[in-house]
Amino acid sequence: MSLPFLPRIIGHRGAKASAPENTLASIRQAKTEGAGWVEFDVKLTADGEAVLIHDETLDRTTDGCGKVRERTLADIRALDAGGWFSPRFAGERVPTLAEALALMAELGLGFNLEIKPCPGREAETARVAVAAIARYWPASLPAPIVSSFQIEALRAARDAAPHVMRGYIVEKLSANWRTEAESLGCRSIHPSWRGLDEATARAIKTAGLALLVWTVNKPDVARRLLDWGADSLITDAPAALAGELATK
Ligand code: G3P
Ligand code: MG
Repeated sequence: MSLPFLPRIIGHRGAKASAPENTLASIRQAKTEGAGWVEFDVKLTADGEAVLIHDETLDRTTDGCGKVRERTLADIRALDAGGWFSPRFAGERVPTLAEALALMAELGLGFNLEIKPCPGREAETARVAVAAIARYWPASLPAPIVSSFQIEALRAARDAAPHVMRGYIVEKLSANWRTEAESLGCRSIHPSWRGLDEATARAIKTAGLALLVWTVNKPDVARRLLDWGADSLITDAPAALAGELATK
């Protein structure tokens, strides 16, 4: 099966360097900065709703505190998710996955949804995420990727929605990365650039897999990865990377 179109630049948590991560403002910012897709993180609230947030707790990226898994959607929606970043973004909310999908459809942005489950909710988070894609992301729009560090989440995504492309995220690839990816039916590998060498990058491409590398903010690193065959660079600063790559 051939790989879908993949953009060179994917905004990390929206455009994390210039807007509060994982908010609608951050998604809009990524579009403005020239990203083709965005990457964002999905967790479940206490009442099982999918929201965009990276950490297990609310403390760093909202004006609330405590564990995401112990708060309802209503609790979380009452929080400010923008003011911590800059007063300019005060009033931003933690978006639901449905809201984020609607905005991306409106903006013409594709996406890489990272299933980022709270411990013990791996399969449930995956199932809710792929169900939202089925419900809110028409097949006529660009095919997305769902990815995770968590093998249990990837298995659950595969079982619930085998047709949705899956990506295997790793800090550093182990020697048996190919077997692991195949056993999960993953068609893309998402390593950190810090743990990736040229031979492995080229082997991933030779194996017919897509290579999406994070979090690439330096133009010289971006160039090297593209030379090695990387398909997409997941970056906090789409504008900086796009400008630099376009001019040389
Ligand atoms: O999807 C790649 C990257 O986002 C994984 O790390 O911690 O930024 O979600 P993290
Ligand atoms: Mg992520």
